[in-house]
Amino acid sequence: MQDINSVRQILIDKIATSNSPADVLKSPELKKLYSVIGTLPANERGAYGKSINDLKVEIQSAIDSRMDEIDNAAVEPLDVTAPFDINSSLIELMDTENGTKHPLIRELENVVDIFVRMGFEAIESRQIDDDKHMFESLNFPDNHPARDGYDTFRTEENFIPPAHTSTMQNRILSAGRDRLESGGQIAAVSYGRVFRNEDVDVTHEHTFYQCEGVFVSETASLGEMLGTLRSFFEAYYGQKLKIKTQPAYFPFVEPGLEFAIERPAVLGGKPGDWLEMLGCGMIHPNVLELAGIDSKKYRGFAWGGGVERLVMLKYGIEDLRHFESGKLQFLREFK
Ligand code: PHE
Repeated sequence: MQDINSVRQILIDKIATSNSPADVLKSPELKKLYSVIGTLPANERGAYGKSINDLKVEIQSAIDSRMDEIDNAAVEPLDVTAPFDINSSLIELMDTENGTKHPLIRELENVVDIFVRMGFEAIESRQIDDDKHMFESLNFPDNHPARDGYDTFRTEENFIPPAHTSTMQNRILSAGRDRLESGGQIAAVSYGRVFRNEDVDVTHEHTFYQCEGVFVSETASLGEMLGTLRSFFEAYYGQKLKIKTQPAYFPFVEPGLEFAIERPAVLGGKPGDWLEMLGCGMIHPNVLELAGIDSKKYRGFAWGGGVERLVMLKYGIEDLRHFESGKLQFLREFK
């Protein structure tokens, strides 16, 4: 009897931890108990045999409840909204961390914020557009060589992933016409991704970000534009800056200018170290007229430039390709 009790304990323990508890019925301990029967005096065999049978019944019910337990464990609650298997034991081994905004988006938000505080409305640019907005409405004549300067991609259906945020100008001007006529102004920035079919190197990407401004009133002037741009750059870099312009050609402005700032000393600059930051100018009368705005009564200015360049200067980033690389080592520097 002592034997039966100790075997009972061994088997119950085995069942409790086994994933195939029925195997316990074949265990050597149990077989040994049976083999004892033949060695007992005849008058003890009946009682002994009954004890073994009781043990078997008990073991069988322990096996049954362990099987139920295993079945239930297999249907653990499943969170279908989790981005990974939350029940996986691998989760503990994973080096998880919270994501952060991409540095470019964070800086783009900074840029847009500065203009919003200056009173500009902010509009995200489109990522697919057409010839009208990319060229026609911006005073690029058909087959004009200036079109080639934009290395545009085209879809088979002749749509264009925009090569500059100026594709938003006609929309902004058309939408603001009524406001002008009721005595107001148009003041908007558009921002977003642009695309050019260019070879990629440290200063060129096929995909990058631009921010563009459009301002129209009865009295808008170049002086007002330069003041606006200077205020923006000084706010973005948090210091006084020297600026200069030089003539440049864009079909949609007249005169057209390139706007440069002197690289600040704190960012490793020496006097005379000019950096071209963007293109700008007075909106061409044809562009106003194509949006239904009377170019004799109203005048406007516009500017547009790349966001990466601003950010590279601010943080001393040497290679434009880092931004689109998805390299965590680079991204973590901006946490
Ligand atoms: N869209 C021009 C470019 O990407 C920049 C620009 C914008 C120039 C607005 C003048 C006025 O090159």
